[in-house]
Amino acid sequence: QKIVLAYSGGLDTSVILTWLKETYDAEIIAFTADIGQGDELDGLEEKALKTGASKVYIEDLRAEFAKDFIFPMFQAGALYEGQYLLGTSIARPLIAKRMVEIAKAEGATAIAHGATGKGNDQVRFELTAAALAADLEVIAPWRIEQFREQFPGRAEMIEYAEKRGIPVKASAAKPYSTDRNLLHISFESGMLEDPWFDATREDVRDMYVMSVDPELAPDEAEYIELTFKNGCCVAINGTELSPLEVMDTLNEIGGEHGVGRVDMVENRFVGMKSRGVYETPGGSILFKAHRIMESITMDREVMLLRDGLIPKYAQLVYNGFWFAPERLAIQALVAESQKHVEGTVRLKLYKGNIMAAGVKSDVTLYNPNIATMEADPTQAYNQGDATGFIRLNALRLKVSSGVHGA
Ligand code: ARG
Ligand code: SIN
Repeated sequence: QKIVLAYSGGLDTSVILTWLKETYDAEIIAFTADIGQGDELDGLEEKALKTGASKVYIEDLRAEFAKDFIFPMFQAGALYEGQYLLGTSIARPLIAKRMVEIAKAEGATAIAHGATGKGNDQVRFELTAAALAADLEVIAPWRIEQFREQFPGRAEMIEYAEKRGIPVKASAAKPYSTDRNLLHISFESGMLEDPWFDATREDVRDMYVMSVDPELAPDEAEYIELTFKNGCCVAINGTELSPLEVMDTLNEIGGEHGVGRVDMVENRFVGMKSRGVYETPGGSILFKAHRIMESITMDREVMLLRDGLIPKYAQLVYNGFWFAPERLAIQALVAESQKHVEGTVRLKLYKGNIMAAGVKSDVTLYNPNIATMEADPTQAYNQGDATGFIRLNALRLKVSSGVHGA
């Protein structure tokens, strides 16, 4: 039997690798996706082999992540519960998709992951697997009683690892859990479990990875120009860039100015509320710029329709339904809505703030001649028409108050 394991090289997935091998008497193929988690990949292949993997896949999926996952999601303007830009959520279907492909190519009968049994990630992995490979078995050790009994805490895992010669990092474990990729880094658990705990405190500054504390950001503001086509950013400050380069560039600039931090309590799909702190520097800039771009290029009713679908779309991504027919249906509407979203947005970054500082487009729908308070040379809008417009709209209100009282 062959099992493909989503492997990070951390203590959990290292122990899981060995445990699967022993428990299922199986060959374990370790898979790690590079989706922009940075330096965590150094020495990973060697480590996986040492830990007992029969084969290791480490694949750079960053370009695909940016182009086929992050960008379509930003075209949709997705935002979960008004604050979360879905950095972890959007990465899971890509990781699971590639895992399934490897499993098929290798003739594996199962895939395995180290997500806890209490969160969203397990759902996202497994719904993706279900959509793309209905027959593939999924092994989630954290949901197996025998595994949980064997490893009630970290101490038991460390002991197990040491006994089997699994290399574990000596560095003290951080008192919170993180997940990093091109779009964001998340922080959960530990001291963050208390929602009254203030994560902007000076003594928490070391936790953050992608951005400086806004209070320590430069005193000098910085301008940045994003050029859009089809609702996607295609150039920054006049330089054409790939989606991956856009994310890298925006993360760098945004990080320097401390933009994109979010601290919230969110609703997990599995029913509980959970506190999360996020750094999404580049994504926050992209999100704001995109909305500004739409403001002059998108029709009012198209916008209302698309905006009405944002909570639903965000929920689908959050809950792991990326490869579901309803997400694809909304995506088709989104794509249509983005056809004319093009032009350039200028923003000013300053100490955690992203400020609008200009917008232009060759296909702008904004017409100053129509909107002006001065005489309208186009005569497109006749003020007298407003009288009838308001009277007809008022009709049912008058009828209703006449019947029921005001
Ligand atoms: N709460 C966020 C989400 O559900 C972040 C999850 C972080 N995952 C992790 N394995 N640390 O999308
Ligand atoms: C986990 O449970 O593995 C992390 C948190 C989540 O998936 O929501």
